[in-house]
Amino acid sequence: MPESPYLVIDPGRVRENYRALSAAMPAARIRFAVKASPVDELISLLATEGAEFDVASIGEIDQCLNLGVAPATLCYGNPIKKAADIARAYALGVRRYAFDTEDDLLRIAEHAPGSEVECRFLSAAPQSRTPFGTKFGCAPSEALRLLVRARDLGLIVAGPYFHVGSQQLDPEAWQIGIEQAAEISKALADKDIAVQTVNIGGGLPISYADAAPALGDIASVVNAAAAEFLPATAGLVIEPGRALVGNAGTIHAEVVGVRIAPDGRRWVYLDIGRYNGMAETENEYIAYRFVTDRDGDPVDEAVVAGPTCDGDDVLYQRTRVLLPTTLRAGDRIQILDTGAYTASYSSVSFNGFPPLTVHVSGAERE
Ligand SMILES: Cc1ncc(COP(=O)(O)O)c(C=O)c1O
Repeated sequence: MPESPYLVIDPGRVRENYRALSAAMPAARIRFAVKASPVDELISLLATEGAEFDVASIGEIDQCLNLGVAPATLCYGNPIKKAADIARAYALGVRRYAFDTEDDLLRIAEHAPGSEVECRFLSAAPQSRTPFGTKFGCAPSEALRLLVRARDLGLIVAGPYFHVGSQQLDPEAWQIGIEQAAEISKALADKDIAVQTVNIGGGLPISYADAAPALGDIASVVNAAAAEFLPATAGLVIEPGRALVGNAGTIHAEVVGVRIAPDGRRWVYLDIGRYNGMAETENEYIAYRFVTDRDGDPVDEAVVAGPTCDGDDVLYQRTRVLLPTTLRAGDRIQILDTGAYTASYSSVSFNGFPPLTVHVSGAERE
């Protein structure tokens, strides 16, 4: 058995998730957001199933290409990119890019001439569990202006793009986004630009401690809204991360210690925490479920914390977590549905960006 903590991923489950999504939204092209779980076997499996890939950096592009994924199936979807990275991606054969600023559009036009572009707008969707805030996306009116500009710069307009926020629990969010995308598409048609695709982003939720709406419920909203509002010629693209891999992973961890704090609260310390996999417990956004060897014994509330010396390395102190009162150091504990945004955050190259390099200065101090 590997040393704890470790994540076990079931590729069969990922395949099932892909096929279920494909059946639920038959008209949509599925583009896996690699950042959710940049695992070679999963990328290869999804490529075989016919997926496309949303890549966030040269690191993720290299990873996909090294696995034999066709560059034509990649979209460089991160709106934050350096000119040199766009040039590198173009040289590697990537011909599809997302952007949300004029600045980035001009860089794409210069370094990836003739490529296909999607403009990400900030939709009026309700907040998701792990919201992006206003970090990404321009105003819808600006998306219209920028897509016209893209055409004038010699780029191919793919169409508008929105992301309703990860772990989005309200199916209406997609309806709102699709209606907004439809308005942009109509205004583009008036300027003789035919939208090829509307990218409805990621955000599909999975059930953690709280149940999420079923895939079928969201698919009904998406399919109906697409049929009602989008031009018949515009294809749908969906960019899931969590929904393809989240429920395919289980983290195996260990209890390092149990303590009663001076205020009387019980703390359970694990060998996994905020910095080695549990990043999405930030703000207690995602409430994971735990399984222990002592399930069945009486339970009581516990604060759950990670192993580092950092005061913020606490997974849950407001969320009510019930764990067996008999739990002791050395006990094994499983954390369910941890296939998305766990290992990739804890690795030294989240999103494929290499780790910060360290330069030792100070020879002059000797
Ligand atoms: C550009 C982009 N597309 C898709 C996704 C996938 O989102 P989700 O895992 O909510 O499906 C993300 C997640 O951060 C993203 O940044």
